[in-house]
Amino acid sequence: MCGIVGYVGNGNASDFLIDGLRRLEYRGYDSAGIAVYDHGEIKIEKKQGRLVNLENVLKDHPLSGHIGIGHTRWATHGKPSDVNAHPHGDCHNHFVIVHNGIIENYMTLKKDLMAKGHVFKSETDTEIVAHVLEEVDDGDFLSTVQKMLTIIEGSYSLVILDAAHPDTIICTKKNNPLIIGLGKGENFIASDIPAVINHTRDIYILQDEELAIVTKGSVQLLDRDGNPIHKEIQKVTWSAAAAEKGGYPHFMLKEIFEQPKAVHDTVAIHLNKDGSVNFDDLGWTKECFEGITNILITACGTAYHAGLVAKHYIERFVKIPVSVEIASEYRYSKPLTSEHTLCIVVSQSGETIDTLEALKEAKRHGARSLAVTNSIGSSIAREADHVVYTLAGPEIAVASTKAYTTQLVALLLLALYMSQLKNSISADLIQKITEGLKDLPKQIEKVLGEKDHMSDVADRLIKAHDIFYLGRSIDYAIAMEGALKLKEVSYIHAESYAAGELKHGTLALITQETPVIAVATQDNVSSKMYSNIQEVKARGAEVLGIGYDDDEEIGKYTTETVRIPRVDPFIAPILSVIPMQLLAYYTSIKRGNDVDKPRNLAKSVTVE
Ligand code: M6R
Repeated sequence: MCGIVGYVGNGNASDFLIDGLRRLEYRGYDSAGIAVYDHGEIKIEKKQGRLVNLENVLKDHPLSGHIGIGHTRWATHGKPSDVNAHPHGDCHNHFVIVHNGIIENYMTLKKDLMAKGHVFKSETDTEIVAHVLEEVDDGDFLSTVQKMLTIIEGSYSLVILDAAHPDTIICTKKNNPLIIGLGKGENFIASDIPAVINHTRDIYILQDEELAIVTKGSVQLLDRDGNPIHKEIQKVTWSAAAAEKGGYPHFMLKEIFEQPKAVHDTVAIHLNKDGSVNFDDLGWTKECFEGITNILITACGTAYHAGLVAKHYIERFVKIPVSVEIASEYRYSKPLTSEHTLCIVVSQSGETIDTLEALKEAKRHGARSLAVTNSIGSSIAREADHVVYTLAGPEIAVASTKAYTTQLVALLLLALYMSQLKNSISADLIQKITEGLKDLPKQIEKVLGEKDHMSDVADRLIKAHDIFYLGRSIDYAIAMEGALKLKEVSYIHAESYAAGELKHGTLALITQETPVIAVATQDNVSSKMYSNIQEVKARGAEVLGIGYDDDEEIGKYTTETVRIPRVDPFIAPILSVIPMQLLAYYTSIKRGNDVDKPRNLAKSVTVE
C-alpha cells in the first residue's frame, strides 16, 4: 500500500526518486512527495494527487542533491492532501521519513509529544515517527533509530534521513516489504523491484526488524540490536522490459496478453516428459498426507477466487475436503484448524497482511502450510512451510489478470501432484489434463483473438448500472472473478450469482436494464445453466454467454455468445475468464477511467 524509494550516490537523487515512484505508483496514487538533502538542509516537496502534480511542482522548485527519499501514498490515516503526503519531518526537518504501514500507538505518542512542545503539521500516524526520532536523538543516527523502534508499535517500512548525517540513509521494516538495490557508487531503496530494475539486478530483500545503513559505497545489514547479519544477494531474473508497457496502452492489457507465456512458464517447470507432474522440490511423500483430514485455502480478492476453483480441483482429484476462507474473516474466526489441516495460502504479492496473518493463525493451530505466490522471498513465501511460485512475471496493473490464471494453473498442477502421490486418480486422467495444459497457451491465444468482440460488447455495457454474472460449479467461481474485475476497473456495480440460486430472491432484480454474463463450460450442469439463462432472458435481460465453440445449444438462449475452444472442464476456467478480463478492461477505458490505477485501490494491501 504506498510506494517507497530512497537514493544515495553521485547522481541527481530527484531523477531516481521520481522515476522510481512512477514505477511504484501502482502501490498508491493519492499523493506523492520527495525529500532531498539540498545545500545543507533537507528540503521537502509533496503534492496531493497523481505523481504528475508533484513533477509540475518540481519544475518550479527543483530539489538537487545526491541523497533523498520519496513516497507515493495510499491514504489510511488522514485524507489525501498536500500536508498529509509523505515525506514527514520533525519540528525542524532534522529527521525526515517516508513510511508504509500503520503506527498503531500514534495517538498516545502524539499526546505525550505535544505536551513536550512538538508541533504536528499533518493528521497522519506517520509524522509521529519523525518526532519520536527528534525526541530521542542522541547524535548517533543508528542508536537514535534503534531507540525509536522500541517506542513505536505497528507495521512499517521506514526510510529515514538525518540532517546531521547527510551521506547516510537508514531503513528498516516490519510486515511491509523493502528491498535494497546495489549499484556501483550508488545504492537504491524501494518497496518493490520495478523501481530499481533499470539500475541494478542485485538486491537484498530486507526481513522483518532488520536494519540497513546505506551510503553510496556500502550497505551494512544489522539486526535490531545492531549485530551485523549476512545476507545473500538476490539476482533479479526478469528483464527491465517486463516492468514496462512495451507498446501497450496500459499494463492491464499487456498483462492480459502475457497470459500465454505466463501459463506456459508455470506449466513447463512442473511437468515431466512422461506427462506426470513434478513438485519434487516440496519433498512430499504419500505418508505426508496420512494425517491430513482437511485442506484450508485462505486468500483475498482474486487470489480467493483462485482458491474457490482449487476447491473443485482438490476435492475431485485428491479427495480431501477443502474449505476456502476469506483471509480477513478467517484470522478472527476462532477456527477449527488443527495439525490435521494443510493450509494453502494464495497471494500474488506475497505481502497481503490479511493473508499473512491468516497463515500465521493456521500455523498457530498446528496446520502444515504451503504458499502459492508470485513473489520470491516475500513475507508469505518465508512464513509458509513450503512455497510454489507462479511464473507470471511482474504484475503492475492493480487488477490481477495473469497472476490469477497462473494461480489456477499452479493449483491444478498441485492437485494433480497430490493425487499422484496418493494414487487417488488414474495416471490416464492426470496425463489427459497435463496434455491439455501443454496446449493451453495456444488456446489462450485464440481467446485473446476475441479482443475486438469484447470491445464491441463493452460499448453496450458502459451505460449499465448493474450487471449480473452467473455460473454453476467452477463457472460460479469464475463468474465471481469476472464480476470483481468489472467492478474494480469500470466502477459499474456487478454481482455474481450461483445460477441456481437466482430464483430464491435475486431474480426480482433482473429486468431489461440488467445485462447478464452467463458462463457455461461445465458439462455436468450445462442443461441446468441453459434453463437459468432462459429464466433471465424471459425477464428481459440481454445475455452474453461464454461457452465452447462446439456448443450448439447455448446460442439458442443467449443474446450473443463468445466462444472458447473445447477443453477439459477443469481447464476451461483458465480460458473463460479471459473474455471477462477483456470486457472489464474495455468497459473501464471507454468510461474514461484510469484502468491501471482504479480509484481507492492499490496493488499490494499491507494494512488491515
Ligand atoms: O497480492 P494478493 O494476491 O494477496 O492480493 C489479493 C487481493 O488484494 C487482489 O487479488 C485484489 O483483489 C486485486 N486487485 C484483484 O484484481
